[in-house]
Amino acid sequence: MRHCIYPGTFDPITYGHLDVLSRAAKLFNRVTVAIAVSGGKGPLFSAEERLEMVRPNVANLPNVTVVTFSGLLVEFCMAQQADAIIRGLRALSDFEFEFNMALMNRHLEPELETLFVMPNEQFSYTSSSLVKQVAKFGGDVKHFVPPNVAAALAAAYAPKPA
Ligand code: COA
Repeated sequence: MRHCIYPGTFDPITYGHLDVLSRAAKLFNRVTVAIAVSGGKGPLFSAEERLEMVRPNVANLPNVTVVTFSGLLVEFCMAQQADAIIRGLRALSDFEFEFNMALMNRHLEPELETLFVMPNEQFSYTSSSLVKQVAKFGGDVKHFVPPNVAAALAAAYAPKPA
């Protein structure tokens, strides 16, 4: 029974993340999407909102569950009895950050492996912050995020009544 954790801030989840997730779901018996509560990035959406945005988009993947976590990722993984962490590598520019994070996690927990998958190249330039920027200024984000996420972004950036 192989179980992997797909961690991230997911602020918000994009089709690129979902592409990584669908690949992970084929490779592992069980995948847990682990949403970092703070992620150190001052997220636009609360952890609960991010969780609710992910859930309907994984309903077609019966071996995938979604949770939030705080604290050290490796501790969460060990508590979940996970075999591996999975991360997406979109381009060479992701490599250094991911390499350092994987080695730090290995230092903290030598038994836990980090595996990388490459999302479809059509998502190589998709990122949550670029999507937020486009949405903030009224651009169309439907190619990058599922409809429920696009709606949440539109609501988050809707002009506030005076
Ligand atoms: N498709 C689209 N975008 C992707 C992507 C993909 N396949 N893979 C990564 N990204 C983008 C995200 O959109 C995001 O973009 P942004 O920076 O513009 O917002 C960025 O790459 C990374 O975000 P995400 O995938 O959500 O993960 P993250 O790098 O924010 O996650 C944690 C980092 C949560 C895994 C890490 O901080 C952590 O483990 N925290 C817990 C504390 C801990 O243990 N720290 C020590 C770690 S060594």
